[in-house]
Amino acid sequence: MTDPRLSVALVNQKAGVGKTTSGVLLALALHHQGHEVLLGDADPGESALTWAERVNMPFDTVGLPRTNTGTRLGSYCTPDMVAVVDTPQAETHGRTVRSLLRVVDEAIICVSPSVIEVERTSGMATHLAEVAEHRDTPLRVSVLLNRVIAHTISAREVRAALTDEGYHVLTTEIPMAQRYVKVYGQMPTDDVLGPIRDVSAEILDRAGIQ
Ligand SMILES: Nc1ncnc2c1ncn2[C@@H]1O[C@H](COP(=O)(O)OP(=O)(O)OP(=O)(O)O)[C@@H](O)[C@H]1O
Ligand SMILES: [Mg+2]
Repeated sequence: MTDPRLSVALVNQKAGVGKTTSGVLLALALHHQGHEVLLGDADPGESALTWAERVNMPFDTVGLPRTNTGTRLGSYCTPDMVAVVDTPQAETHGRTVRSLLRVVDEAIICVSPSVIEVERTSGMATHLAEVAEHRDTPLRVSVLLNRVIAHTISAREVRAALTDEGYHVLTTEIPMAQRYVKVYGQMPTDDVLGPIRDVSAEILDRAGIQ
């Protein structure tokens, strides 16, 4: 088992929050920035893997098993790699998600800015507390606000509420836009990748990587 240079997992308690969309785009942005990227797909639905293979994404991809997922991720990594892992919803795949959270450097919780989503985010806290006991180093945790309608009160309120709860909310927000719906299964264009490049820069900065 090898520790990659950096590993991140896109997570949430719930389905349909943008884990796959953000994860695949983040992998591509990191590749464009010159990193050796591995995209791991721990969701049995394999939507990230299917997308990446369909357009022949210029980075390595691997489907991860549902058990010992974290350990298996390490078996595909090299020390130079940056691994991005898409995960299924933790509410029904808790073991898989916790297995990954034991080993990755950072968990990125994808959140759509609405009150109900904030309540759902708190569901992740149980998983995070559980894995904390099994880690040598603390897991970094950040929140990525996705499907943000610009300048709405809800985006500001959700950012404030999650910050009050102690989460690091990434400065970059992904806007709600049809282009993020249409990009699935396609090679992303620059306008889609724009904000994701900033997410990538924030994540690398948090890891102390240039
Ligand atoms: N920024 C965005 N703007 C508009 N729609 C978005 C955005 N991000 C994702 N979506 C759409 O929301 C839906 C869910 O996104 P996605 O599949 O990435 O979520 P997920 O968390 O991986 O879901 P699942 O848990 O089912 O795997 C998709 O239809 C996707 O196209
Ligand atoms: Mg998904």
